[in-house]
Amino acid sequence: MRQALIAGNWKMNGSLAANAALLTALREQSQSLHCELAVCAPAPYLFQLQSLLAGSSINWGAQDLSVHEAGAYTGEVSASMLQDFACRYVIVGHSERRAMHAETSELVALKAARALSAGLVPIVCVGETLAERESGQTAVVVEQQLSPVLDKLGSQLAGIVIAYEPVWAIGTGKTATPEMAQEVHELIRARLAQCDNAAAAVVRLLYGGSMKPDNARQLLAMPDIDGGLIGGAALKAADFLAIAQAA
Ligand code: PGA
Repeated sequence: MRQALIAGNWKMNGSLAANAALLTALREQSQSLHCELAVCAPAPYLFQLQSLLAGSSINWGAQDLSVHEAGAYTGEVSASMLQDFACRYVIVGHSERRAMHAETSELVALKAARALSAGLVPIVCVGETLAERESGQTAVVVEQQLSPVLDKLGSQLAGIVIAYEPVWAIGTGKTATPEMAQEVHELIRARLAQCDNAAAAVVRLLYGGSMKPDNARQLLAMPDIDGGLIGGAALKAADFLAIAQAA
């Protein structure tokens, strides 16, 4: 019922030449996939994504957006600009932005709402740090990150994607076991169901954090893991496609 989504988060990586090679390979080799494929690139490359991916089955998006609609916000990128480049997705609340740009869960909720109002699908990221996991705080932290989003979005919940990304697994090579990830995903789905049963059934919950070709199959086999948000492995066509094939 929920089509798997394998989304690449390129972070601050790429160049016109490297992107062209990667996107061409993805485009050529993605025809026989059963999942949905998407790439989220740095904003300067959105025009390139639009040019090279238009007419293919691959969707594209950005990694952040401004909470404001337009105006004197130097350096910010608005939802309508992302719309201009035919973005389908935008990542909001990635742990790197929460940690390095002091983004709060309340701000993340506003960004998610801004994305939805422009017809974009926000990929809302949540996840605990290692210290929080080790002190048994995972469920509390995820609830704190999620609840402002659920409160703010109300009846629009069905239009989002949620990515559970344990901070200790991002870029570290340490992955949550399929059981550990499933436990949190189940909790997130149950929390969604408290707000909106129909949305809980359709919202895709992605796992992110060192997902690689060799661990993707077991993670994606779990009942509440509906795809992946892929960092490092999304920069190599062969790895990204191998994960998509596992979905
Ligand atoms: P990773 O990053 O796959 O390199 O761990 C995932 C993410 O940060 O979205």
